[in-house]
Amino acid sequence: MARTPLLMGNWKMYKTVAEARAFAEELGQHSQALGTAVDYAICAPFTSLHVLRVMLPAQVKMGAQNVYPEKEGAFTGEISPLMLAEFGTQYVLAGHSERRTLFGESDQMVNHKVRAIVDAGMIPVLCVGENLSQKESGQTQAIVSGQVTQGIAGLSSDAVARAVIAYEPVWAIGSGKTATAEDAETVAREIRSVIAEHVDAAAANAVRILYGGSVKPDNIAGFIQQPNIDGALVGGASLKASSFVEMASAIG
Ligand code: G3P
Repeated sequence: MARTPLLMGNWKMYKTVAEARAFAEELGQHSQALGTAVDYAICAPFTSLHVLRVMLPAQVKMGAQNVYPEKEGAFTGEISPLMLAEFGTQYVLAGHSERRTLFGESDQMVNHKVRAIVDAGMIPVLCVGENLSQKESGQTQAIVSGQVTQGIAGLSSDAVARAVIAYEPVWAIGSGKTATAEDAETVAREIRSVIAEHVDAAAANAVRILYGGSVKPDNIAGFIQQPNIDGALVGGASLKASSFVEMASAIG
C-alpha cells in the first residue's frame, strides 16, 4: 500500500491570531499549488486553531502541539484529547524534543499521550530523535528504537498503521544543520524494522515516517526522495506561507 506523503508545519510558540489569519489568507491564495496526492497540516498554538479551522484551505488539516492524557478533571492549564477532537483537530504531536527536554516528558508520559490521542480518534505524531552526545557516542539507533517502542506500547496494529512518526535529531532542530538524507533514511528504515518486530509487518509498512530538523524549501526534496521517508515536520520554515507553498511544490 502506497503511503500518502505528509507535509506538516510545527509553529511552536509563534504567531498571534492575527498572524495566523494572515498566513491562512496567503496560503489560501496559493491553494492550487497544494497537490491532491499529499496531506498537509499545521500544528499551531491552541489560540490559533480556531482561525485556522475557519480559514485554511480545505486540504490543510489542523494539528495541535500538545495534549494532556486524561478525559477531564482538575488539571489546571491543560487541554484534553476530547476538546481537541471535538474542535476538528486531526493530528497531535507527542514527545517533541522540546517537551521532553524543557518540560521533562518521559517516554511513559509520551506513551500515555499517544494512546489518549488514538482513543480520541486523532492521529498521534510521535517525535523521536537523539541528541548530539548520543549521536557522537553511536547511540542513535538505540535511542530512537527505545523511544519508538515505548511511545507506541499498547497500540493496536491498526493504530500504529495510521500513526505518524517524526524522526527529528535534536541537534538538527533550529540549528541550520540537517542529517544527511542517507542517514535519515537509515534511521527511518530502522524504525520500520523495529515496528515490524514489535507490532507487525503491516503496521511497519503503513506507518508514515517524517524527517524533521532544519528542513527548508531547498533541502526537502532530498529527504522526500528516500524510500522510507514519507514527508517532513518543519519548524521555522513553516512560518512563512510562501515557504510552505515552496515545500509543497517540492513534494507534490
Ligand atoms: O517539529 C519541528 C522541528 O522541531 C524542527 O524545527 O525549525 O529545525 O525546522 P526546525
